[in-house]
Amino acid sequence: MQLLLLFWLALLFEDGDNKEDFQGPTSFCLIQISSFANSTWAQNQGSGWLGDMQIHGWNSDSENATFLKPWSKGNFSDQEVTELVDIFRVYLIGFTREVRDFASVFQLEYPFEIQGTAGCEVRHAGAPKSFLRGALGGLDFLSIQNYSCAPAPEGGWRAKKFCETILQYQGILETIEKLLFLDCPRFLLGVLDAGKTDLQRQEKPVAWLSSGPTPGSGRLLLVCHVSGFYPKPVWVMWLRGEQEQPGSQRGDVLPNADGTWYLRVTLDVVAGEDAGLSCRVKHSSLGGQDIVLYWGQHVSVGLICLAIILPLLLLFIGLALRFMRRRSYQDIL
Ligand SMILES: *[C@@H]1O[C@H](CO)[C@@H](O)[C@H](O)[C@H]1NC(C)=O
Repeated sequence: MQLLLLFWLALLFEDGDNKEDFQGPTSFCLIQISSFANSTWAQNQGSGWLGDMQIHGWNSDSENATFLKPWSKGNFSDQEVTELVDIFRVYLIGFTREVRDFASVFQLEYPFEIQGTAGCEVRHAGAPKSFLRGALGGLDFLSIQNYSCAPAPEGGWRAKKFCETILQYQGILETIEKLLFLDCPRFLLGVLDAGKTDLQRQEKPVAWLSSGPTPGSGRLLLVCHVSGFYPKPVWVMWLRGEQEQPGSQRGDVLPNADGTWYLRVTLDVVAGEDAGLSCRVKHSSLGGQDIVLYWGQHVSVGLICLAIILPLLLLFIGLALRFMRRRSYQDIL
């Protein structure tokens, strides 16, 4: 009893200390994408995600899970993991079979695609939250709401009928409930702890400027590239002096192969009005020391000219001197 109390106290204090500045992911989900090309050909893709980081894959040939990080199993035992992988394998086989069998009842026309996502989230306050959503042909189909199957309006009669049907399978529902509301939060907390070093790491961005394809005559596209940062949240803005430029266009934050992120922010300006512009980057890894890059096109063009002209000039002077010296020798001779 006392131990339990201590445990809760420890948890409470830990809460107060770390949660505020913890920037890592807070959710785990499995994603399933099932493509049905015709009545005999189907393919299942599966993956497990901690926030925006993929930590599990699914090899559809060997019908086995792949663990992409050394800590992808969290604090689950090998036996528990094996059981879960078995459940997932049996589920995918059953799913494919049932969809084929019911394709005519639900008037599904080949080819079609089914997407599903299920997982849970730990929040700063309150109990963990679990979710399950399904989509058919890119439209919402159903979700789990209040421990029950809720058809999405976009799912029409098919979704209603599906939910009515699935509610009759008590065994399946109990398994889903256990996985979503018990196993998932337990797994999530374990994997967040096991991967702590990786997840809370800070990688500094590098930034550079370039000009993009001209957006029109008399205009310039300034590009600020920011790459190699982790975690994902980043603030990048074009400024004139201290003034943020509202025309700054932020691209999507794209993944690098090494698990860090890349972002480009562009600014479309009238040629000749590009002086005094700078790109500012704020990121948690920089500890308040923002990266500021000044758009130095004029300087750099000037420098390039100087770099080309100066050696030419020296060469010319050298040649001229030699020529003059030769002349003077000739004069003497
Ligand atoms: C089913 O689709 C697969 C993949 O597109 C194709 O290779 C196969 O020939 C198709 N089978 C039939 C019976 O149409």
